[in-house]
Amino acid sequence: MRIEDLDTPVLLVDIAAMERNIARMAALCRDAGVALRPHAKAHKSPDIAAMQIEAGAVGICCAKLGEAEVMAHGGIGDILITTPVIGASKLMRLVQIASQARVAVVADDAGNIGEMAQMAQTAGVKLDVVVEVDVGQRRCGVQPGEPALALAQHIRGAEWLNFRGLQGYQGRIQMTGGYAERKEAADAATALLVGTAELIRAGGIEVPVLTGGGSGTSAIDAAAGGLTELQPGGYLFMDSRYAAIEWNDGNRVPFETSLSVLATVVSRPDANRAIVDMGHKAMTSDGGPPVPIDLPGAAFAYGGEEHGELSWDGPCPLALGDKVLFRPAHCDTAVNLYDMFIAARDGEVEGVIEIAARGRTQ
Ligand SMILES: Cc1ncc(COP(=O)(O)O)c(C=O)c1O
Repeated sequence: MRIEDLDTPVLLVDIAAMERNIARMAALCRDAGVALRPHAKAHKSPDIAAMQIEAGAVGICCAKLGEAEVMAHGGIGDILITTPVIGASKLMRLVQIASQARVAVVADDAGNIGEMAQMAQTAGVKLDVVVEVDVGQRRCGVQPGEPALALAQHIRGAEWLNFRGLQGYQGRIQMTGGYAERKEAADAATALLVGTAELIRAGGIEVPVLTGGGSGTSAIDAAAGGLTELQPGGYLFMDSRYAAIEWNDGNRVPFETSLSVLATVVSRPDANRAIVDMGHKAMTSDGGPPVPIDLPGAAFAYGGEEHGELSWDGPCPLALGDKVLFRPAHCDTAVNLYDMFIAARDGEVEGVIEIAARGRTQ
């Protein structure tokens, strides 16, 4: 079956391009001697996580406990949860998955660490804990230096907890367009994390893992050598925003755009416009509007939950029933709208990849 024959709207992944992206990131990390732990929030699929591990990743990251449950159930054996897990009911779920897979979780609060220690003891399960440090993102994370040292000591003092290291993710700079500006900011973030690790080591505590970084800083972080483990997610699909950044000294990003949504023209209301069956429920807008592929001069606007409008200054080249491919501006949120990827190779449908952790926000 050709992709043009699919019912729409439908989420497509160019499987050959995705495989090349998986291999390229694995090679980038391998060549630099840094571990790769891709962020599964991008694809939410244990099948794709398994492909990443098969290519050399040490494990995966999950943003949410619910994602981690799906991944552990799907056979993924090594998971880092990169957002703090708060409250008794969630900690109970955490110790449950820690008995199925090797699970580490980030923490930035002494009270949370205390509750975690109690839950781990009650369940008789050892938990790996990574202290999250705010290296500039201004989201979660304890401040670098002494506050992080205090939490590391707290974890070390808990019999059922194992201090694994530090996480520092600087998300604000991942899509900084200019290479030099992005490199300066990435190196500054890593320096904060490395300085904190040195302080903790000076206190006699081992810091085996320094984890962080995203797709945009992956080459910079790999070359800098401060982080022991990289967490890129979006490299797999390269949405239209990511694909536009300068990689190094004017080079293009070495990852290919592999994700798209196929839509159908359902109305031709006048000479300059076509209406497609893809609105807010089939494509996200948090990163900006999607980009129509191979349609020069077309402007896209949302026409509500179920409709999108393509318009031209001149005549519209599309007929009723024509299919149009769109590139998402933000892959992670677009993926979360669908139950499955349709995997295609050279426009021919090859199979279905379940997005098993879709909607698992708890
Ligand atoms: C903690 C953490 N690590 C890694 C990533 C991966 O970033 P990217 O998709 O830009 O590669 C994210 C994305 O938001 C994140 O929140």
